[in-house]
Amino acid sequence: MSNEQNGRVALVTGTSRGIGAAIAAHLLEAGYRVAGTSRTGTAPEGVLGIACDITDPEQVDAAYQRIEAELGPVEVLVANAGVTRDGLMAMMKDEAWQEVIDTNLSGTFRTVRRAVRPMTRARFGRIVLISSVSAYVGTPGQVNYAASKAGLIGMARSVAGELGSRNITCNVVAPGFVRTDMTEELSDDVKADYLKRIPLRRAAEVDDIAAAVRFLCSDEAGYITGVVLPVDGGIGMGR
Ligand SMILES: NC(=O)c1ccc[n+]([C@@H]2O[C@H](COP(=O)([O-])OP(=O)(O)OC[C@H]3O[C@@H](n4cnc5c(N)ncnc54)[C@H](OP(=O)(O)O)[C@@H]3O)[C@@H](O)[C@H]2O)c1
Repeated sequence: MSNEQNGRVALVTGTSRGIGAAIAAHLLEAGYRVAGTSRTGTAPEGVLGIACDITDPEQVDAAYQRIEAELGPVEVLVANAGVTRDGLMAMMKDEAWQEVIDTNLSGTFRTVRRAVRPMTRARFGRIVLISSVSAYVGTPGQVNYAASKAGLIGMARSVAGELGSRNITCNVVAPGFVRTDMTEELSDDVKADYLKRIPLRRAAEVDDIAAAVRFLCSDEAGYITGVVLPVDGGIGMGR
């Protein structure tokens, strides 16, 4: 095991695929002991995979208890799990609104809330919330998603203010257009439009996001808190 992070314990949510799986693999490679949650409980090899639906507070608590028993208290949390239920505002059903808010915003709240007491006791913590460029540019057809992701920015900055004196940082990474199952659902026209507007002229790979997250989780990033780091090829520049 590499010594880069002295075997700190990290939890990443949403590790069954996509960005979360890449973040878990990067942290593992950097020497963390990593647990990964998702509803299915699958995670990359070497990661302690746990089934946990973040819309259920009891499952969140049970996942933490298992991590504490098997690896120790969580020192690094990456709240990555998220969903989309797209549709135009006028036609959006309450259920589509609620599912996205309950997963992306309330689920992240539950996950962070359970992490902070042990971090406070340890006088160390790194929290990274995965938001989206949609939080600040807005995305037609995604009022539920954009609202949930904008909420994470307010959450992170409030947590940063509450817990900074305990040596706990809380930051946001805001990906742009990343090649994963989530964006695979988009039409070819929407994908082509994104690519035209991205200054770097390509979609992000999951490793682009994971590298930024890995830095914010590191001991070296200890004086960075309350920031929103766009990893978006420049599409949200200046906003
Ligand atoms: N892809 C992009 O372009 C992009 C851009 C900006 C931001 N993001 C954000 O980045 C994060 C990861 O996106 P992705 O593209 O990797 O998505 P993805 O491929 O759809 O993966 C989403 C992950 O979240 C988990 N998840 C969903 N609902 C959950 C729940 N209720 N409880 C626990 N886990 C749950 C899924 O696992 P199970 O289905 O097994 O539960 C899966 O592991 C999301 O927050 C997304 O909003 C993505």
